[in-house]
Amino acid sequence: MAQLIDGKLISQQIKDELKEEVAQFKAEGIDICLAVIQVGSDPASSVYVRNKKKACAYIGVESRSYELPEETSEEELIKLVEELNADESVNGILVQLPVPDHIDEDKIIRTISPDKDVDGFHPVSVGRLWIGEKGFLSCTPAGIIQLLKRSNISIEGKECVIIGRSNIVGKPMAALLLRENGTVTVAHSRTKDLKEVAKRADILIVAIGKERFITSEYIKEGAVVIDVGMHRDEANHLCGDVDFADVEPHSSAITPVPGGVGPMTIAMLMNNCVETVRK
Ligand code: GUN
Repeated sequence: MAQLIDGKLISQQIKDELKEEVAQFKAEGIDICLAVIQVGSDPASSVYVRNKKKACAYIGVESRSYELPEETSEEELIKLVEELNADESVNGILVQLPVPDHIDEDKIIRTISPDKDVDGFHPVSVGRLWIGEKGFLSCTPAGIIQLLKRSNISIEGKECVIIGRSNIVGKPMAALLLRENGTVTVAHSRTKDLKEVAKRADILIVAIGKERFITSEYIKEGAVVIDVGMHRDEANHLCGDVDFADVEPHSSAITPVPGGVGPMTIAMLMNNCVETVRK
């Protein structure tokens, strides 16, 4: 039986550690505030934003909420972000993505001060990550590193294969695994012989966005399998990019969906909020 990597449990441990740290900062008179901006009312975004605010309340970070109408102009959004950049009582700024089509997402990300970029999406944060400087880490990949470390899975010297090359997951994941001395391959939709490449992996990270795409044919016996996907199947069940029932018997450790990578993203966002006040 594979070890089940319990993201729910590990994210709870991290949030409890952060809660203690935040209480210590409070005792020193240091408060932390996260500004959360949502433009429009996309239902999935509303769920994410609600969960982020809940996590803030749990660890003792103030969340300041900005719910803007769908018709908000790019200029108005930029003006708000600039005001929050200048507001010393605000430590972190999060603009929930996606923003409506008439707003240039990249422009908004670049407007957020790199010192308040708790999502780790700003080009300065990305650059810092790649050259090994301290900075905000993209939350989902940082959460995956924590899942591995806290499950006593070593990365050093391992063949790590990432399937997916997005700016939010695949690319920062590569930088972080490299930082941990893994040997890293980034595969994607145009990779030739994807099965053969995936089969090289001691640690396989799957972020391709295709429901139950990865079967046991992609798995080296005893590999560690991390599933970043989240889908609702025809029977209305949540599932990932990995066919769990088929892959689990061939892996040494695997994340479930739900309850694997998902809960880690918010825990690492909270860590980035606390990072704004750490020395
Ligand atoms: N939309 C989906 N995931 C994320 C995330 O991690 N951060 C932000 N800001 N928007 C998202």
